[in-house]
Amino acid sequence: MSRHPAPARIDEGTIRALPKAEVHVHLEGTFSLADILLLARENGAALPGPAATLFDITTHDAFAAPEVTTGGGAGAGAAGLSGFLRFLDWQCGLVRTAAQAARVAYAFAARQSASGVLYSDVIVNPTHWNAWRGREIELMRALAAGFDEAEQDGLCAVGIAYSLLRGQSAASADDAVAALAAARPARVIALSVDGDEKVTGRTGEKFREAFARAKAAGLRRTVHAGESSGPVGVWDALDLLGAERIDHGVRAVEDPALIARLVSDGISLGVCPRSNLTLGLYRTWEEHPLPRLLDAGVSVTLNTDDPAPLGSSLEADWAVTAAEYGFDETDLIGFAARSIEASFADDDRKAALRAELEHAARRLAVAEVPSA
Ligand code: ADE
Ligand code: ZN
Repeated sequence: MSRHPAPARIDEGTIRALPKAEVHVHLEGTFSLADILLLARENGAALPGPAATLFDITTHDAFAAPEVTTGGGAGAGAAGLSGFLRFLDWQCGLVRTAAQAARVAYAFAARQSASGVLYSDVIVNPTHWNAWRGREIELMRALAAGFDEAEQDGLCAVGIAYSLLRGQSAASADDAVAALAAARPARVIALSVDGDEKVTGRTGEKFREAFARAKAAGLRRTVHAGESSGPVGVWDALDLLGAERIDHGVRAVEDPALIARLVSDGISLGVCPRSNLTLGLYRTWEEHPLPRLLDAGVSVTLNTDDPAPLGSSLEADWAVTAAEYGFDETDLIGFAARSIEASFADDDRKAALRAELEHAARRLAVAEVPSA
């Protein structure tokens, strides 16, 4: 992997043209400003601040963080992770009808397609969607209708990772998984857990049963860890929750034994460097461990997390990461290849995606797709 300043910044058009998957992106983090303003108008809901600066979350008292934040500057990130999650609660609370849910799902698929994403696992945490409390399966069905329509229109195919929130109770997590296992809503392919572990502390034990039941019901497992928690959160994700993939996981770099485990078990990390910098986990690109994780042989994918409120896109994040670390086109093809392998797409779709990527690599005159 080259790690020297690239001779020229890789054009975002080249990145868009690379067939790829995205595996760590929250539906809640993809509503555009126009989507949100339309939802607010449809519901007659007051905005927490001026429309034009809605994503400057720290300027709105409604999301003020009681705890000290590590973020800096204006924008969504300066509110820190907890303030940011409160913003998501407000925003998703505006989605009240099945048609509105289908519309945001469709918009997600269109957004992914515009970035050259052919398949995406998307994280959906129903606890943010407060109009759907007690009707979470209905929410999944409404979203699936939007994803179905999008796929029929030739847009990105989507699988849903249904997410628990770190702060919810063991009983409500067990109930959620029991409901999923009974209803088997279309497109829900995985169980996830997200939220702020700095606030909740360790919760692996609390969710152990829910994840075991999800596995028994045939759901895949992905876990946010090693972002608001240190290496211990990643150990718990592996040992207590049976995680097949880790969302973020970057703080695993602090524990060599953990890195060895990730490599030996082929556990992929869904890394989101721009989100980590914006939300204040690392101050600089030099501090961010992405190159060290790659050098250690960990399977790393490159993702956005919450691109709309964080003011980014997948192609912009790949371009800036390549520029900062000197990645060339072959390196980016490697990221695309790993994104396909790490995804929860089925075998047929993975084979089709691999073939598309090989074709694109030939067009870019890269002889061989680097092994994932
Ligand atoms: N939910 C949305 N974005 C998140 C993040 N970066 N960490 C944890 N939970 C989240
Ligand atoms: Zn995330």
